[in-house]
Amino acid sequence: MLSGRHIVLGVSGGVAAYKAAYLARRLVDAGAQVRTVMTDSATRFLGVQTLAAITGSTPVVGLFAATDVSPHTTLARWADVVVVAPATAATLSRIATGLSEDALTATALAAWGKPVVLAPAMHTEMWEHPATQRTMTTLRSDGYLVVGPATGALAGGDEGIGRMVEPEEIVAAVEAALAPGDLGGWQVVVSAGGTREAIDPVRYLGNRSSGRMGNAVAEAAAQRGAEVTLVTTAGAVEQRRVTVVVVDTAEEMAAAVWKAAAEADVAVLAAAVADFRPADPAAGKLRRADGPPHIVLEPTPDILAGVAKMSPRPFLVGFAAETGSLDEAVVKARRKGVDLLVANDVTRAGSGFGTDTNEVALITPDGVVEPWPLLTKRQVADRLWDRVAAMRGAAP
Ligand code: CTP
Repeated sequence: MLSGRHIVLGVSGGVAAYKAAYLARRLVDAGAQVRTVMTDSATRFLGVQTLAAITGSTPVVGLFAATDVSPHTTLARWADVVVVAPATAATLSRIATGLSEDALTATALAAWGKPVVLAPAMHTEMWEHPATQRTMTTLRSDGYLVVGPATGALAGGDEGIGRMVEPEEIVAAVEAALAPGDLGGWQVVVSAGGTREAIDPVRYLGNRSSGRMGNAVAEAAAQRGAEVTLVTTAGAVEQRRVTVVVVDTAEEMAAAVWKAAAEADVAVLAAAVADFRPADPAAGKLRRADGPPHIVLEPTPDILAGVAKMSPRPFLVGFAAETGSLDEAVVKARRKGVDLLVANDVTRAGSGFGTDTNEVALITPDGVVEPWPLLTKRQVADRLWDRVAAMRGAAP
């Protein structure tokens, strides 16, 4: 699995750096090509010559010492995966904030879009500090893969959580990072956000959807290997394998979704689409002095219905935001021609618009309702993809 793969091993300055030599050895033994990058303080714990001898390539230390004018981008482009072991609190914090003033953190940043595995190592107090925990939350949400830390003996005879995991476990994490995701090869289209329908050039009819649920669905799919077209009114996802198409109106969303759906294996329509729009939006700003306007509405295209009647059509997941009972959603699951419907009661605490969490029920067209617990939107997205993968089989 690692044979011939290009692995950049970054070593930062903690006592666990000595284990980076074992890690390099194991990666080389597995057939990988390994290049290394060290922080200055790492060189106090582990000899540059040691890593050079094991990998056959001189470690990069510092951004200006090497003959290469841009050693960090050279390394990042060459890499299939970057692994930072040990990753100290300071190095993790610099990666999370983008403070890339040394060769290791610059390499980690330049590798954006590629898998980066981080193996934290530090004392328990430092690991538990809110600053480090904030850092880890940021890193995880940015898509970094974190392995450990473990509980055990620490530097200076201390015991506790913070110990770098053993090289074997890091090798396994690198293998997992390189494994094709279970959605590899899938073409997916996701709609997200709330559409805006012009009343005049200033005002619109809209809704409270933030786009977070659809964005999470798109991100999760891409991280699991799918090629994703995200048609959204919110436009905040930067993720490898996600092509973002920003739209405003139901009409624009319909055109973009239908175009992508014609090629897609799966369509997940999580957007809150206006059902009606002003039939004749004013060309100029409506004035207060003219009194309350009479706005005549007309129906918008039903995007989901358009996908449902495609032939062949993608596996189709609809969303239904309800207020109160989910009885109507059960009817919708049958009526709309979907394979699955994700329904939620947006009036419940922690559910619906603008929150990071959601309590949904999965409904099948035959009326089976499966309530899920309160989860983060990302967890809902992953569970949904687990289900879709199980229903349509792993390969398209
Ligand atoms: N949807 C769509 N195009 C529309 C309206 C809705 O594609 N013009 C999609 C949504 O993205 C969602 C699903 O249809 O996946 C259900 O949306 P919902 O508004 O609950 O459906 P409606 O039939 O409009 O139901 P309601 O009567 O509750 O408004």
